[in-house]
Amino acid sequence: MAMASARKDVAANIEALREKIRHHEYRYFVLDDPEISDFDFDKLVEQLRKLEAEHPELITPDSPTQRVGGKPREGVVKVAHSSPMLSLDNTYSEEELRAWERRVHELSGRKDVDYVCELKLDGMSLALVYEDGRLVRGVTRGDGTIGEDVTLNVRTVRTIPLFISKEKLQKAGLTSNFEVRGELLMPLAAFKKMNEEREAKGLALFANPRNATAGTVRQLDASITAQRRLDYFPYMLLRNGRNYLDRHWETLEALDAAGFKVNQSRKLARNMEEVWAFIQQWEAKRETLPYEIDGIVVKVDRTGLQNELGFTGKAPRWAIAYKYAARAGVTQIEGIRVQVGRTGKLTPVAELKPVAIGGTTVRNATLHNMDEIERLGVKIGDWVQVERGGDVIPKVAKVIDDKDHPRGHATFQMPENCPICGTKVVKTEGEVDYRCVNANCPAKLRETILHFASRGVMNIDGMGDALVTQLTDRGMVKNVADIYKLTKSDLLSLERMGDKSAQNVLDEIEDSKKLPLERVIFGLGIRFVGERTAQFLAEHFGSIDALMNASLEELEEVNEVGPRIAESIREFFDEPRNRELIKRLRDAGLRFAGKKRERGTKLAGKTFVLTGTLAKYSRDEAKKMIEDAGGRVSGSVSKKTDYVVAGTDAGSKLDKAKELGVPVIEETEMEKLVG
Ligand code: IVH
Repeated sequence: MAMASARKDVAANIEALREKIRHHEYRYFVLDDPEISDFDFDKLVEQLRKLEAEHPELITPDSPTQRVGGKPREGVVKVAHSSPMLSLDNTYSEEELRAWERRVHELSGRKDVDYVCELKLDGMSLALVYEDGRLVRGVTRGDGTIGEDVTLNVRTVRTIPLFISKEKLQKAGLTSNFEVRGELLMPLAAFKKMNEEREAKGLALFANPRNATAGTVRQLDASITAQRRLDYFPYMLLRNGRNYLDRHWETLEALDAAGFKVNQSRKLARNMEEVWAFIQQWEAKRETLPYEIDGIVVKVDRTGLQNELGFTGKAPRWAIAYKYAARAGVTQIEGIRVQVGRTGKLTPVAELKPVAIGGTTVRNATLHNMDEIERLGVKIGDWVQVERGGDVIPKVAKVIDDKDHPRGHATFQMPENCPICGTKVVKTEGEVDYRCVNANCPAKLRETILHFASRGVMNIDGMGDALVTQLTDRGMVKNVADIYKLTKSDLLSLERMGDKSAQNVLDEIEDSKKLPLERVIFGLGIRFVGERTAQFLAEHFGSIDALMNASLEELEEVNEVGPRIAESIREFFDEPRNRELIKRLRDAGLRFAGKKRERGTKLAGKTFVLTGTLAKYSRDEAKKMIEDAGGRVSGSVSKKTDYVVAGTDAGSKLDKAKELGVPVIEETEMEKLVG
């Protein structure tokens, strides 16, 4: 009896703590108005994690600790929607919009129609099913009738409530079972950061935030989704597949009251004049938003009227999208030149007849690589559609081929030699990209210096494009170490450089010397070594010297470092010029030692794979334990795996281990091995 009541207490404590965390998650992520510090918030989560570790039987999927993504999904599961997920008809002018309004008037027999205006968010639509106030399913639109189950991924999105209390639902006017539909998107800042990291690692870039959103939410491994930031804005509320409040405006307010992040940029318009004003207002302001929109959605407010108006084909008659002029234009390709990046990658760039797109004149557009040129079938002289997305460089979207736009003739070919330094260009078997492998290629130099100085690396603000171009063109900076030799009179000899800005740059350079070891490693621009890998390397080796002298095998012991990365690091430090560079950076006074994360050697050389849910530890905790004992944790089972640690609900990795004869151990055995 006593035991049972103690357990009840713990359960109540855990639930109270969860509710508290949910409240602060809401304040922070939905309202962007936190009441407590990040530190205090983390403490609460830690407390909950600890209690849950002591009572694993009380862990539920809607606990705030479960937003990290558990074991990867086994594959794609299709789910039928409660009612079709429709799309919208588009309009492109005020005239077309007025025509839509006339039709609404005719079909409904009324003229006093209220409309709700919302931003047309450029992400992907997603349905969320709640039962008993708990998120039980997240489903992509798919073909509108059947979508893909992405529940585990969706749980990692911080602005999506995992559980809403009965009281809160009641207050909001919702029952416990309902479905929400809305737009999932990746904010521009997150998109930019993700692409920068991918670029540093030599991975293919996502073309726009919409593709990045789809690619992220459909990951089989939800822990990857958890690492990227997605946001969700709901715009529909259903019960048994049908609308259930009288007005759409009320629906948005109810969703808001229930704790969802309803987009604040909305308007209840009494007539078409007000709608038109909203459309114009946002056309001018769209660039100020932290995410992309491609227009405005206008919806008839009264749901009764919506039902009367019904649907045509795949779109409702009660709503319409007003699309802003696409940030695209048609122009002719005058030539294709090749740009050489920091890693030596050759990127073909289309030189365009200047064209105005969304307020700026576009003269160049990327063609990415040879595969893309072939896919588009682009020739020099072609007329093409050029698109400009949020923060991305303009790109060639397609070739126009009609009687007004004759095709071009000259085929582009990758040059055999680097256009900057003349070194023979190399294409590795199986890779898409062509590269200049000359470490001293001046093009690489400029990009390398820009990378080194950029924010998030050595933070030398003021060392942007214009300054770096002058410094490298004049031969004042031939490598990153030369930055630390610059004097005030050097800087004053440059164009557009006054005493004050010169001093600022010098101060920034001085400050950069205090940055930690991982920044220096990241700044060196070693191929495949992004921010995260640099961090692991710094923690593992604790100093540049240890890193510089590590063998391939030692490098591969580092978290997430495989043969390809290890080789690239070795190659970098084997180059005498780079060793000289390190020496000069050391003399300049940069941080060459950091805090080594102490690791035992008990499990040195041993590779573990974790699968299923462990009772006492989260994935991260178990991983840290193994790593601290010198072991390595890998994501997939192979013949090289030494142990698979299996918790409950272990899936395909367990089968694979059995198939390959890899020893499978339980949590307690792992504890013993770790010591
Ligand atoms: S309402 C039946 N509202 O646009 C109503 N859709 O082109 C259908 N979208 O598939 C959706 N912002 O992914 C609605 N405020 C908004 C929206 C929105 C973006 C997307 C949605 C839809 C697509 C149709």
